[in-house]
Amino acid sequence: MSHFDEAAATWDQEPARVRRMREVGQAIVREAAPTREMTVLDYGSGTGLVGLYLLPHVHSVVGADNSPGMLEVLRKKIAEGHLHAMRAVRLDLQVDPVPDDRYHMVVISMALHHIADVDRTLRGCHQMLRPGGILCVADLDSEPGTFHPTAVAGSVHHLGFDRKELKGRLESIGFIDARDATVSTFSKPVEKDGEQTFLIFLVTARRRV
Ligand SMILES: C[S@@+](CC[C@H](N)C(=O)[O-])C[C@H]1O[C@@H](n2cnc3c(N)ncnc32)[C@H](O)[C@@H]1O
Repeated sequence: MSHFDEAAATWDQEPARVRRMREVGQAIVREAAPTREMTVLDYGSGTGLVGLYLLPHVHSVVGADNSPGMLEVLRKKIAEGHLHAMRAVRLDLQVDPVPDDRYHMVVISMALHHIADVDRTLRGCHQMLRPGGILCVADLDSEPGTFHPTAVAGSVHHLGFDRKELKGRLESIGFIDARDATVSTFSKPVEKDGEQTFLIFLVTARRRV
C-alpha cells in the first residue's frame, strides 16, 4: 500500500491543505479562464480537491490517479454528490499507454514532485490535450527538502521546481506560451527547524492549435 493509499481517508481533514487547493483552483480560474464547454483532466487528482473546485466552471472533469485509495475517496464524493459530470479513473502516465481521450484542459496540482519521470508525464499530458488546449501545473517552488515530513520522503522525487526551468521543459516538449504566477505563500512548521515559508506557483502552457 502506498503512502497516498494510507493517507487518502484523512487527506481532506487538513484545513491548510484544503485552503491551499482552493487557492490553486481560484488561480486556475483566474489565469486559464475555463468555460462551461471545457472538458478537464485532473491528473494526480488525489481526493479531487482541485477538480471538484473547477467542476461548476466547466463541462466535465475526469480525476485520474494511480492510488486506489485516493480514487476510492473521490468516487465516494462523486456518488454522494450525484456529480454526473465527474468521474475517477486509474492512470499512471509513467507506465500506462496514453489514453485516447482528449481534453481542453489538463491540471496537475501538487502531484508532479511525486512523479519520477516528469518528461514522460508531461509528454503524455501534451498528447491528451486538444489542439489549443491548456496545461495547468501547480507545484512548489524549489524547496530545501523540508516540505514533507521524513516519513513520506520516499514518495517525493523532486524538491519543488524552478519555474523557469519547468517552462523551458514544457517548450522543449512542444508547448507554447508558457507563463507563471504565484498562487500561495504560506508558512508551516517543519521538522527540527521551526517554521518555514513555501510558495506554490501555477505554470500554464498551451498545446499548439
Ligand atoms: C500531494 S497529492 C495531490 C492531490 C491533489 N492533486 C491535490 O492537489 O489535492 C499527489 C497525488 O499524486 C498522485 N500520484 C503520484 N504519482 C502518480 C502517478 N505516477 N500517476 C498518477 N498519480 C500519481 C498521488 O496518488 C496523489 O494522489
